[in-house]
Amino acid sequence: MDIFEFSNEDSDETPGIVIDNGTDTMKLGFVGDDAPRCVFPTVVGRVENLTRFLLELQPKTLFVGEDALSKKGRRTIYCPIKRGIIEEWDNMVEVWEHSFKNEIRVYPSEHPILMTESLDNPKVNREKTCQILFETFKVPSFYLVPQQVLQLCAYGMTSGCLINLGITSNCCCILDSKIMKNSCLRCSVEAGGITELLKELLAMRGYQFTTRLELDYLKDLKEKYSYCLTNNIPETISAIENKSQIREYEMFNGGCVRFGKERFLAPELFFRSRKQILEMSNLLTNNCKGINSNFQEMEREKEKEKEKEKEKEKEKEKEKEKEKEKENENENEKEIEKNTRIKSYSTLPKMIYQSIISISEEKQKQVFENIVISGGSSLFEGLQERLQKEVKSFWAENAPEVKVHAIPERKYATWIGGSIFASLKSMKNKWMTKEEYNENGSSFVHIKCNDCL
Ligand SMILES: Nc1ncnc2c1ncn2[C@@H]1O[C@H](COP(=O)(O)OP(=O)(O)OP(=O)(O)O)[C@@H](O)[C@H]1O
Ligand SMILES: [Mg+2]
Repeated sequence: MDIFEFSNEDSDETPGIVIDNGTDTMKLGFVGDDAPRCVFPTVVGRVENLTRFLLELQPKTLFVGEDALSKKGRRTIYCPIKRGIIEEWDNMVEVWEHSFKNEIRVYPSEHPILMTESLDNPKVNREKTCQILFETFKVPSFYLVPQQVLQLCAYGMTSGCLINLGITSNCCCILDSKIMKNSCLRCSVEAGGITELLKELLAMRGYQFTTRLELDYLKDLKEKYSYCLTNNIPETISAIENKSQIREYEMFNGGCVRFGKERFLAPELFFRSRKQILEMSNLLTNNCKGINSNFQEMEREKEKEKEKEKEKEKEKEKEKEKEKEKENENENEKEIEKNTRIKSYSTLPKMIYQSIISISEEKQKQVFENIVISGGSSLFEGLQERLQKEVKSFWAENAPEVKVHAIPERKYATWIGGSIFASLKSMKNKWMTKEEYNENGSSFVHIKCNDCL
């Protein structure tokens, strides 16, 4: 992929549209723009079980995005994308329809559409997306790209370890623009888990968040005030002793949420178990004196756990090697299935480390220096620094250079990368056209949209 060679034709063609299908939010805009023009929640609200009488009074029964979440009226809320994968197709079609009609306001039949997909998007989903875009929306041409490939473009790199932190947390290594299949991993900690933990921690202070509106405020509070510890022990103590760490958040009803340690305890879930965090919370509440020794004990335990897990991983690797040898024997007979479920790890550093050591040894150094974070949940202050330290801590000595990159625009890195990707000269012949679809059907998507896999 010649990522720096842009198309310089002054085209009078209609501009392409980039659509980043997010579990949480849709991002849409024109190819060549610096940022998406429309961002809205990926939700559909349906008013169900209405009598005829009520239907006559309020004929509109379907709402998308912000409208679906507005508090007026009773409706069932549907989230068509679950963990990055489209699961409710009727609702997704409504989201796309709304995108074209009310958000970006274009006729899809007049614009090439580039869409993003999750690393483990099943083949059937790729085909279905393609079919809907050509048949329902009558697009002239279409392209589908894994989010990580676009994130790489946004960072102007051709190799690296790409970490998507949206609602889902997943990563892969890309070498010379090719995704390394074995390096595609997930982390079981997701944005919803962090919000849920924050809710639990704040409940211990007596604050309840239950209604949809309250939960919206909780999410906002998380986004505004949470941060990742960059230095475990000293910062933790200063965080509770130093009044400047306390924040006050005003609620819609005039109430006020006052909180301190919860700011860093919730995102700590990226690095340790919920149980350990609740223990930390108790220590901080009850036992400020002697806290250092308690933390040091916890740290030692964490180290021991790490050691044990490393041993286990080594064993697993050996087994895997054996299995691989067996598999290789049959490889030519089998079609390589891109979409087997990808393996999940319990913390972000583990996921990153495992992903990178799955690639060939001589390439690892380069990738350890090119770790990239993208997505809304990558915005936690301190995350970049903490990840850098934790990934490095997998080595007792002779650690390679570890560098985590984080551009300010990383929340929209996938979309921005899509805008760059679709502007490349090389893209001109890549689009899957309506004619190709009519001739070959939806499975052609795997042939056309496959250059990065
Ligand atoms: N400043 C912030 N600090 C921490 N988290 C944030 C911040 N801003 C947004 N988020 C979180 O980012 C998440 C949404 O990120 P994003 O829009 O990248 O997800 P998505 O693309 O819809 O999901 P996915 O890529 O997993 O399908 C939400 O959980 C939101 O609370
Ligand atoms: Mg995303």
